[in-house]
Amino acid sequence: MSTLIPDALIASLKTSQALVVLTGAGVSAESGIPTFRDAMEGLWAKYDPAQLATPEAFERDPETVTRWYDWRREKCAVAKPNPAHLALAELQRAVEKEGRSFTLITQNVDRLHQAAGSRSVIELHGTLWVWRCIRCCQEREERQVPFAQYPPKCACGGNLRPGVIWFGESLPEEALNKTYQALEECDLFFAIGTSAVVQPAASFLHVARQHNAKTVEINVASTPVSRLVDWSILGHAGETLPELVRRAYAA
Ligand code: OAD
Repeated sequence: MSTLIPDALIASLKTSQALVVLTGAGVSAESGIPTFRDAMEGLWAKYDPAQLATPEAFERDPETVTRWYDWRREKCAVAKPNPAHLALAELQRAVEKEGRSFTLITQNVDRLHQAAGSRSVIELHGTLWVWRCIRCCQEREERQVPFAQYPPKCACGGNLRPGVIWFGESLPEEALNKTYQALEECDLFFAIGTSAVVQPAASFLHVARQHNAKTVEINVASTPVSRLVDWSILGHAGETLPELVRRAYAA
């Protein structure tokens, strides 16, 4: 796929004082991580995501729900950051070195941004690597793959659930506060590899526009916001982002 990155976008990237980047499943696709909907395959094809990603589903059938999450954890455990993750980490270092602000907000639960070197990542939908006891609410990092039992147990005997946001649950308040503050202050906003339909992330681009930020979308396909952005780049994140960073920062 050929990508055309306009010079005006590169100029804007070089002068922006406050950048906000929102990423979605498309950024991890090139690391081999199935998107939420693609993860309903094979053994899991007969399930609806809403049957597996809700508090009610976990209450009804914790074993099936935790087995599905463990299957996804296994895929994430072997995945490596791809050139899109690495380019975003490089961009953050370059921007912050110049004293400008950079905020990375992700809907992804795989922690590949952090593995690539991104710092202070806002995890809107939580992560598969932290689990929380439904009895005592203690959280702990759970890197063992696969689990020895389903669901895994807390020291207090309660069931552990994944530290992700399920359908019907509110997003973490601290993450949302930081996000809206960054959106109100930003002058350049990127939506990368996200279908722009899942709320509230879908509204972030509108908030940024209301505060006069320039907006950019990078996606392999058109989305509901493609017509609204200043620059819509049709292409793979793993090709487009390294190119963008190279053009902005190569000597
Ligand atoms: P989606 O699976 O809805 O959308 C992925 C987007 O990435 C699509 O628009 C694809 O066209 C695009 N895409 C795929 N490969 C790409 C590539 N190599 N480069 C660029 N773009 C690519 O994922 P999200 O928008 O992240 O919610 O979905 C958000 C949330 O919906 C998920 O976090 C999950 C799900 O329901 C919860 O779990 C609460």
